Amino acid sequence: ETESAVEALLAQMTLQEKIGQLTQLGTFDEESDGELIEEGMVGSILGVRGADTVNELQRIAVEESRLGIPLLFADDVIHGYRSTFPIPLAESSSWNLELLEETAAIAAREASSDGINWILAPMVDIARDARWGRIAEGAGEDTFLGSAVAAARVRGIQRNDWTDRPHIMACPKHFAAYGLAEGGRDYNTVDVSETRMRETYFPPFQAALDAGAGTIMAAFNEINGVPASGNGWLLKDVLQGEWGFNGVVVSDWESVDELVQHGFAADREQAGKLAANAGMHMDMHSLIFHEHLANLIDKGDVKLEVIDDAVRRILRVKHALGLFKHPYVDNKLAGEFMLHEEHVASAREMARQSIVLLKNENGTLPLRQGLKKLAVIGPLADNGEAQLGCWRGQGRPEDTVSVLAGIQSLAHERQAEVVYAPGSGVHDGTAEALEKAVEAAKASEVAVLVLGETADMSGENNSRVSLELPAAQQRLLEAIHATGVPVVLAVVNGRPLTLEWADAHIPAIVNGWQLGIQAGPAIADILFGEASPSGKLTVTFPRHTGQVPIYYNAKKTGRPHMRRYADSDIAPLYPFGHGLTYTSFGYDELQIEQAEIKFGQSVSVSAKVTNTGDRDGVEIVQLYICDEAASVTRPVKELKGFSRISLKAGESATVSFTLSEEQLGFINQAQQFVVEPGKFKVWIGPSSAEGLEGSFEIIA
Ligand code: IFM
Repeated sequence: ETESAVEALLAQMTLQEKIGQLTQLGTFDEESDGELIEEGMVGSILGVRGADTVNELQRIAVEESRLGIPLLFADDVIHGYRSTFPIPLAESSSWNLELLEETAAIAAREASSDGINWILAPMVDIARDARWGRIAEGAGEDTFLGSAVAAARVRGIQRNDWTDRPHIMACPKHFAAYGLAEGGRDYNTVDVSETRMRETYFPPFQAALDAGAGTIMAAFNEINGVPASGNGWLLKDVLQGEWGFNGVVVSDWESVDELVQHGFAADREQAGKLAANAGMHMDMHSLIFHEHLANLIDKGDVKLEVIDDAVRRILRVKHALGLFKHPYVDNKLAGEFMLHEEHVASAREMARQSIVLLKNENGTLPLRQGLKKLAVIGPLADNGEAQLGCWRGQGRPEDTVSVLAGIQSLAHERQAEVVYAPGSGVHDGTAEALEKAVEAAKASEVAVLVLGETADMSGENNSRVSLELPAAQQRLLEAIHATGVPVVLAVVNGRPLTLEWADAHIPAIVNGWQLGIQAGPAIADILFGEASPSGKLTVTFPRHTGQVPIYYNAKKTGRPHMRRYADSDIAPLYPFGHGLTYTSFGYDELQIEQAEIKFGQSVSVSAKVTNTGDRDGVEIVQLYICDEAASVTRPVKELKGFSRISLKAGESATVSFTLSEEQLGFINQAQQFVVEPGKFKVWIGPSSAEGLEGSFEIIA
């Protein structure tokens, strides 16, 4: 039915109307652009929101344009719409796929009530260089986990549990290898082997498409000399040819035009030709398709079939979203959905589960019952803006509960007094402010320092050369530590920070990320023990910025034991998968079902996990393998399974994993996925650095 409707419409379209479908406006001017819509020259608009505005523009498209084709309204909904959740990197630290799906579904529900039907997310770029600001937007460094998270987010965004308004489609981005930008500088050159592309950078995109995403966004960067937005190998051969993708490829913001800045196209017209012929279906904001495609067709530089193919894809998406049947959205819904109490409750739960307890010596945390006075210190303690993080969407600082407010509220319930002193600014401080903070600490039994990054220190175009706390904040931390009052460091961050000094001197470190509107209550819940921390790092925390890129699943090298820095330990400060809780877990009884398996067989691996402490807790049990010798060198360890389990104090559970052929293979020199015979090591444990070790063999 859809296909015949698409064909019938296509048959009636003029060339200009076809090109219109391939055009996305990134900014909107009511007067001039209203006319464009009426003439059928626009397929999609980005960044216009609000039911009344959207309905009005949609009305022009549906009722006043010749063919009445509805518009697609796109928006960047990265970690919540109005109800802002933790930044995606933080959310991934929960390893909780159901909850990740839920927060994505809530974001989509709120966005849809505001007229959005195309969400430009999830960001599924694997990122191993913490200098890169956009590391905040993804699920960290690991391909296996990143793929699972990508699929969960797509399922959430496209859950579409409503029938009274257009549905929502996801758009995984940025295809591909954007996270590999040299030096961590945004938009920078990527030079990468095809093997690594296929093995590390492609799978999260494949997982997102397998989960049903019908669109994909091309990246800004070049790959081995060919910008992604004009890369026919990437967009046609791999995406359409090998993977059979029949959805829509949209450019990034002006990335078609940037083919000229890359030095890949001589001018805008050539950029349009290269992008269209490479498999780009929609041009975001640059208006190159709008200005040049007709001429390119006249000259025979772009074939009409290329345009028709793109139009078909876009019309199919519009049908799939129900836009032809329900183009409008009820303008009362937003009032009902935005910041709905259930959404806020999910924001608090996700924020709690995103927190990673990095260090906790001498039972410093949770704060003891009976505590009478605590100091809250730091420039990020009362900073709603920072908590929202990058790409905060429609999130507003006034919707947030600050860390200070969260702590004050729980302290009040416990009849403890809170003294607050900012102590310094984010980047600089005064002796007077520092002195006040020192006095506040000295008058208290414990000092909670809330330090880290503001929202504009990570995210797009916000790379950093240093992963350290800004100097003024480091000085503050050292001054409070020098008082001798026990210190708890709560970090607000959009990327891994280098916390080596803190790790050596501060007894308790809570990695709080930028946790969204409910950061305050969530951090307070953890500090006071109302909830136990359960998050684990999805990205390695280095000791020094000079260690990046750093990731757990590195290759072995010919001298695995001799890798070193002359001036630093080579090991990270906190490894991938690390995270503590208020109880302890023991691992034993590793069992491997068969010591030998044949090709095509799977192997079951299990271990007994026991809550050995005196509090209930959640453990994220991780399974790693290493293919000991293969025709292409393999990483020292690769995550191949995880399970998030709850255990009561003293309780045990057997956690089992099945390793199938799919998890045991790799991309060989001929760029094919293969499983080879040979020995494998396997570990089940609490992080990438620990675990029970066993082995099995695949025999020919
Ligand atoms: O979706 C984003 C993308 O991630 C970065 N450039 C702009 C796009 C649209 O806002």
